[in-house]
Amino acid sequence: MQKEIVVSGIRPTGHLHLGNYFGAMRNYVRMQEEYDCYFFVADWHSLTTHPDTKELQESVLGVLAENIAAGLDPEKVALYAQSALPEIAELYLYLNMLAYKGELEKTTTFKDKVRLNPDNVNAGLLTYPVLMAADILIHRAKYVPVGKDQEQHLEMARNFAQRFNYRYTELFPEPQAFNFGSKLIKVPSLDGSGKMSKSENQLATLYLVDDDDLIRKKVMKAKTDAGPTEPNSEMPDYIQNIFQLMALVSEESTVQKFRDDFNNANIRYGDMKKALAEDMVKFIAPIRQKAADILADKAYLKKVLDEGAEKAKDSARRTIEEARRLIGLNYL
Ligand code: ADP
Ligand code: TRP
Repeated sequence: MQKEIVVSGIRPTGHLHLGNYFGAMRNYVRMQEEYDCYFFVADWHSLTTHPDTKELQESVLGVLAENIAAGLDPEKVALYAQSALPEIAELYLYLNMLAYKGELEKTTTFKDKVRLNPDNVNAGLLTYPVLMAADILIHRAKYVPVGKDQEQHLEMARNFAQRFNYRYTELFPEPQAFNFGSKLIKVPSLDGSGKMSKSENQLATLYLVDDDDLIRKKVMKAKTDAGPTEPNSEMPDYIQNIFQLMALVSEESTVQKFRDDFNNANIRYGDMKKALAEDMVKFIAPIRQKAADILADKAYLKKVLDEGAEKAKDSARRTIEEARRLIGLNYL
């Protein structure tokens, strides 16, 4: 039986962190067993906000290495750079004729980016959702593993697919956001406010490239207090966050021990953070080391990119030929 098709893209705009790992990459790794997966580095998309390309190559290779180190198997999935598939750009052109200025201007991410960077409101930024739709529709994907922030883009992709199907005959399925299990994970930052993130709050975010001492230092700085004075007190948010982080990387018995200590009002947060720091080191160090080894092996990365592009090209070419035929661009 033919496997269902999955597409997702990662923008090369910084090192990956624990939030990306538990929110996104872990889903990719599980999906690679059951689906026909196309995962790519969205280098064209990064040009909409990062026109300076000095660090682009290193970022693209870094994101690739970190994903492979986290468990993505280039033998099982097609792993490629978006710019290796000009078919995406061609489909983007056709979809641009079906996308309206008004709806593009209303997109939340567009409005946010205009606010953050009013001097670089380029047409690529306005049509970001059209390019994203082309990334997905080029493989006629059914599922797209992404976080909540991408839901509006997916809805737009469904609209563009419908309009194409209506105008030129059915070609595209309507892609759905996908998440393993019903729980959406949000990995909290270490300072008790917000979530871990690529660019904000770097000292409160654990990156997969952080060395052991930096991990310890960041964890030991996490916000705590003097501890509860009575048994079974209510737990403050920032302490819940520490328990939540511990649940991701520590043994259940360790989490339980500190939960009991909390409920008995004799918890020592210093000890808890030390235990968490060591478990974080144990979790992150092998991924970091593996990513560094992979990043040092440029010949291997080139092979991954070449083979990934070849696999992806096959499917992209079939879609674009069909799209041309349906539009009527197949002369003689
Ligand atoms: P960032 O916000 O760090 O720049 P991106 O927006 O590039 O990350 O998100 C890449 C993927 O990682 C998305 O699917 C997003 O939902 C997920 N993600 C990012 N931060 C977290 C977090 N703290 N917890 C859970 N998932 C996250
Ligand atoms: N817009 C996505 C983000 O900011 C990245 C992305 C680009 C993407 N093209 C995609 C995600 C196609 C899924 C499918 O995170």
